[in-house]
Amino acid sequence: MNDLAIAANGLRKSYGDKTVLDGVDLAVPTGTVFSLLGPNGAGKTTVVKILSTLVTADAGAIRIGGHDPAADPRAVRAAIGVTGQFSAVDGLITGEENMLLMADLHHLSRSEGRRVAAGLLERFDLVEAAKKPASTYSGGMKRRLDIAMTLVGDPRIIFLDEPTTGLDPRSRHNMWQIIRELVTGGVTVFLTTQYLEEADQLADRIAVLNNGRIVAQGTADELKRLVPGGHIRLRFTDPAAHRSAAAALREVVLTEPRLPSDGGDPAEEALSLRIPSDGSQRELRSVLDLLDSAGVEADELTVHTPDLDDVFFALTDTTDIPGQAGQPKETVR
Ligand SMILES: Nc1ncnc2c1ncn2[C@@H]1O[C@H](COP(=O)(O)OP(=O)(O)O)[C@@H](O)[C@H]1O
Ligand SMILES: [Mg+2]
Repeated sequence: MNDLAIAANGLRKSYGDKTVLDGVDLAVPTGTVFSLLGPNGAGKTTVVKILSTLVTADAGAIRIGGHDPAADPRAVRAAIGVTGQFSAVDGLITGEENMLLMADLHHLSRSEGRRVAAGLLERFDLVEAAKKPASTYSGGMKRRLDIAMTLVGDPRIIFLDEPTTGLDPRSRHNMWQIIRELVTGGVTVFLTTQYLEEADQLADRIAVLNNGRIVAQGTADELKRLVPGGHIRLRFTDPAAHRSAAAALREVVLTEPRLPSDGGDPAEEALSLRIPSDGSQRELRSVLDLLDSAGVEADELTVHTPDLDDVFFALTDTTDIPGQAGQPKETVR
């Protein structure tokens, strides 16, 4: 347990007769990025609020940096920083004033507060904006200020609740860079997101939360292997090579015809072979060994792994997400 920054077992929470969390288990090793991925209403913010002492759980055991939020909330609060889903930035005062307010809350001396605020404003590229009212900031600048404020207390564990929701792509990439730098500095990041790509990009481990339950947990690659559809595709330009390869691989080649909706040029498809595969090194090697012993070489080899979208839609209830039919799609890796 000691190398876990965050551990939770059997978290439960209900509001009235609505069960929001129905037995959630989480384990986040120190110095890693953990992403809690789930659609709107899944319970992500509730998890963050419970782990960060803002709300008490009905049941469950929790350790944050080794402390129990129920028994010792102050110790937990001293170890963590929280950037909520909705900004804590006060728009009426300047960015710098917001920072100094945080420094006060953390009982820093006036000179120490100024030093820390200046350093963070610099680090988050807010020096120019620092003297302007925060209400004039763009969405990306507000989020940067929000995170800078969270860092005033130098927390070792940071909760970021949907830090990029509503940001434009450039600001989102900036935020990803900020998160990566935090981790390089040894901070543990607990990140909630609705974006599969974000979890894929940043997280060491991902838990998929749906209707208050963890429906899958693992690395992005482990999760992708959970849904069917992964395969190795070999393409040939020489029909003779295609025939030899098909003979060599007859035991493993997928024989059912491709659906028209799979796309691709029919002539090209005719010289292709598909081998169902989880994309693992072992499976790839055995296919290459079979080709080698038959003395054929493919003109192109691609590994198609299902992407996180496939996992997400396979595991979560998508009825409340308009425009997402949950069609499996193919990605070339
Ligand atoms: N204070 C509350 N009172 C009643 N219901 C709540 C409260 N907070 C959250 N909920 C409900 O719990 C569910 C999960 O909410 P939330 O944790 O905010 O989900 P997410 O952050 O994943 O969108 C939602 O159905 C929400 O309406
Ligand atoms: Mg939320």
